[in-house]
Amino acid sequence: MSMLKGAPWLLAHKSMLDTNKPQKISLYGKDYVMWKDKTGQVNALPNICPHMGAMLSEGWCEVQADGTSNVVCPFHALEFDANGCTVLPGTNKKTLPQLEPLDLIVKDDFIWTYGGCEPKIPIPDILEKIARDYDFIGYTADTSVQTDLRSMLLIMHDYNHQNGTHRDLFEITEVRFEKFIDNGYHSEAFYNMPTAQKSFWDKLKQPNQLLIPDVIKAHLENHFPSLVILYAKSFLGKFVQCHFFVPETSNQTRTYVLLYGEAKNPLAKLLKNQFLNLVKVVVEQDAGILSKIYADVQQKIKLNNEVGMDWVKRNFANWEELVNSKGVGSSK
Ligand code: FES
Ligand SMILES: [Fe+2]
Repeated sequence: MSMLKGAPWLLAHKSMLDTNKPQKISLYGKDYVMWKDKTGQVNALPNICPHMGAMLSEGWCEVQADGTSNVVCPFHALEFDANGCTVLPGTNKKTLPQLEPLDLIVKDDFIWTYGGCEPKIPIPDILEKIARDYDFIGYTADTSVQTDLRSMLLIMHDYNHQNGTHRDLFEITEVRFEKFIDNGYHSEAFYNMPTAQKSFWDKLKQPNQLLIPDVIKAHLENHFPSLVILYAKSFLGKFVQCHFFVPETSNQTRTYVLLYGEAKNPLAKLLKNQFLNLVKVVVEQDAGILSKIYADVQQKIKLNNEVGMDWVKRNFANWEELVNSKGVGSSK
């Protein structure tokens, strides 16, 4: 149950896939090859070639007359279409499917899957709304971290770790927690974090600091278990960071961020890469600390403002109940 079967996972935003370039994706302990053809269609097959087991993600794509493409095995060049059918040398006929495609649910640019499990909770429709209301800035920090999904989610909902994990970056002086709205597998958290006072000249010396306001006003919108959205303001306008989580195996979890912004200010466009880089540093720092904690330690001390982590723990412990009742601990 550690990988929460029945939840929808966002495998990628279409911008993350180069056209006709096979890419490896892992979910629930299985590897897949995913590729986007020039018509924009995205396909996914198990990554193990049924001939002698080569990784199809190491192969290439062959474009067909209708613009779609097949994936070609790098070992003996057998070619598989989106349905997993191939044509054996010396024959002129397609075989029956040799690989079972992974079911993908593509909504606009968002590529979701239930990993072949029965859907237990719906796909959040918030991303289409964000894509309509903001400009897409880019994706960043696509990282596979050696940790379980629960530990990864805990750090995202840990409002105190900025003081340690991200100490040098944000220099948070205090966490002013405002409220947490618990709505089952959906929740929201509001808190403010004043940062150390710095002169403009000091900030200029470390350009990342320019993007960090005097008070970080955070609004988190959480769609358990696959998505955390952070709405934040800087002097450049509003930014929306969508953090995604994918349980690759029970002990390996992928995370990445899609960044959106209200690019009113022309400077925002100029600082686009700085912003993506800042988010990348934050994710790297999280990955760093996750590799330096002892797993499964019984927590003997509790700090203030651990309500977000309590929400994660409860949802993990009561996953079946949560998805069946559509709202454990609902307070709305
Ligand atoms: S292993 Fe793939 S074609 Fe032989
Ligand atoms: Fe963090």
